[in-house]
Amino acid sequence: MQIDVFTLLPHAFSWLTEQRPLAAVLGSELDLRLWNYRDFTPLTGGQVDDEPYGGGAGMILRVDVVDAALEAVYGDLGSRRILALTPQGRQLNQELVDELAREEAFTLLSARFEGFDERVVEHFATDAVSIGPYVLSGGELPAMVVLEAVGRRQPGAMRAESAMYESFSPSLEGGLEFPQYTRPAEFRGWRVPEVLLSGDHARIDSWRKEQSRERTLS
Ligand code: ADE
Repeated sequence: MQIDVFTLLPHAFSWLTEQRPLAAVLGSELDLRLWNYRDFTPLTGGQVDDEPYGGGAGMILRVDVVDAALEAVYGDLGSRRILALTPQGRQLNQELVDELAREEAFTLLSARFEGFDERVVEHFATDAVSIGPYVLSGGELPAMVVLEAVGRRQPGAMRAESAMYESFSPSLEGGLEFPQYTRPAEFRGWRVPEVLLSGDHARIDSWRKEQSRERTLS
């Protein structure tokens, strides 16, 4: 799949692309392209944002700058899915992540500071997406959250076993992940649940399903 990210801080994404799961799928299952609005601005001095009409603090990413960047990269947008990252958007959840993971391509638009000129969201974006009900100073972290969540759903991103057991996998009926333990089996008197040491995989499976169900319901 192809994911394009438009940002003023493309270098902020480097650590994410150097780590699993994205590193495992980049160049094969995932074609990630980072575009800097500033490289396409029609304004002088690399200007990309401006003061809000009506007054107020902060700077707003300009609609003509976003247009120039999209036009340069795509020409015609066609049916491409374009997601504007904004705290006012549809809240990201696993269902939306899985929906995006099935797309052949999509685009993330991020803004800094006070956000986009609303016309970007209205006319260029097909979706507005929020990563949660709080306000960040830019869309870079939200874009990374979407990238990580969608990237790990690509074939080959995860080691086979963790993909099988991960949260929200169908084998757990859409539930949350069960608790996990590793060595030592006892630490300061805190013991790992006996069932996990039993070697009885049928019992382990049903214990995990039960734990997962309890966590999901609580
Ligand atoms: N930009 C600023 N805050 C955001 C949020 N919570 N989700 C998506 N984009 C944002």
